[in-house]
Amino acid sequence: MKVLVTGASGQIGSYVLELIAKKYEVIGVDLKPYPFNEEYRELVITGDLRSFRFVQSIVKDVDAIIHLAAQVSVERSWIDPAFDAENNIIATINLLDACVESGVEKFIYVSSAAVYGSPLYVPIDEQHPTNPLSPYGVSKLAGEHYAKIYSEKMHVNIVRPFNVYSERMDPENPYSGVIAKFIERAKKRSPPVIYGDGRQTRDFVYAKDVARFIEAVLKKGLNGEAYNIGTGKEISILELTKTVIDIAGVDIEPVFERPREGDIRRSYADISKAKKLGFEPKTDLRRDLKEIFNLL
Ligand SMILES: NC(=O)c1ccc[n+]([C@@H]2O[C@H](COP(=O)([O-])OP(=O)(O)OC[C@H]3O[C@@H](n4cnc5c(N)ncnc54)[C@H](O)[C@@H]3O)[C@@H](O)[C@H]2O)c1
Repeated sequence: MKVLVTGASGQIGSYVLELIAKKYEVIGVDLKPYPFNEEYRELVITGDLRSFRFVQSIVKDVDAIIHLAAQVSVERSWIDPAFDAENNIIATINLLDACVESGVEKFIYVSSAAVYGSPLYVPIDEQHPTNPLSPYGVSKLAGEHYAKIYSEKMHVNIVRPFNVYSERMDPENPYSGVIAKFIERAKKRSPPVIYGDGRQTRDFVYAKDVARFIEAVLKKGLNGEAYNIGTGKEISILELTKTVIDIAGVDIEPVFERPREGDIRRSYADISKAKKLGFEPKTDLRRDLKEIFNLL
């Protein structure tokens, strides 16, 4: 099986590329060259998925696509919603259309927990109503709907990651940025900034777990189904800050600022459906943070 990974130079895509390369023939595509391990560098083609011509050229001879490429900043999606839609909706349509043309058999669309909006209940299962709160959330949900209607023509799965982190995270990333920022500040012995009372919770999942789960979906996902991916556990931002401070071994206290508009209170995933595919998260936030702290 030949697998194409889009967004392969990004945080999650790079781990997916490296994992998939161990078992399958794989190529990656991204706007930027692959920045991590040298041995995978030549597997990644650079190009823009907004160009249908380019997309047509890369899906030829491919059996499956894992689509991770996206504009991922919520903030930027408000500043330039059209740019967000071009990268998240138009690029997805280009891929789906080219897949049908070339007879690609499987398509995994990596969506986001942002499609749920402010949770009506926790843990959030896949039946939870979708109510995105930003242009980014809307574009990710639109991509899901497009992918779903193509499930008549090929095998389609949707994966909804919660807050993904790793040593490859981008500090500007809205999900994991908080971890990168806390580590950065703790290293400089400057106090981390918490917006609100810090009791808001998130489900932080290590990118390698997400990659392992995507591989499980590639093998066993049921056509047309969406799957949450998280740890199934919530951690408060305050707890997260204290853990980082503790790992850093510095004597600082967080600074509290006014809550950010639209910041949701509690969020964590119900991962029972993922577990039915044999997935068990290995994420250990404290251990992973320690490792990341030493690497960054
Ligand atoms: N990081 C998280 O916590 C998280 C949570 C939920 C969902 N997701 C989703 O997972 C996917 C990967 O996220 P990530 O954290 O690895 O982000 P990332 O920004 O590290 O990776 C995205 C990659 O896509 C590439 N890309 C963007 N537009 C492109 C285009 N037009 N053509 C080709 N490549 C393009 C970027 O260059 C980047 O390398 C995204 O679809 C995102 O919406 C991420």
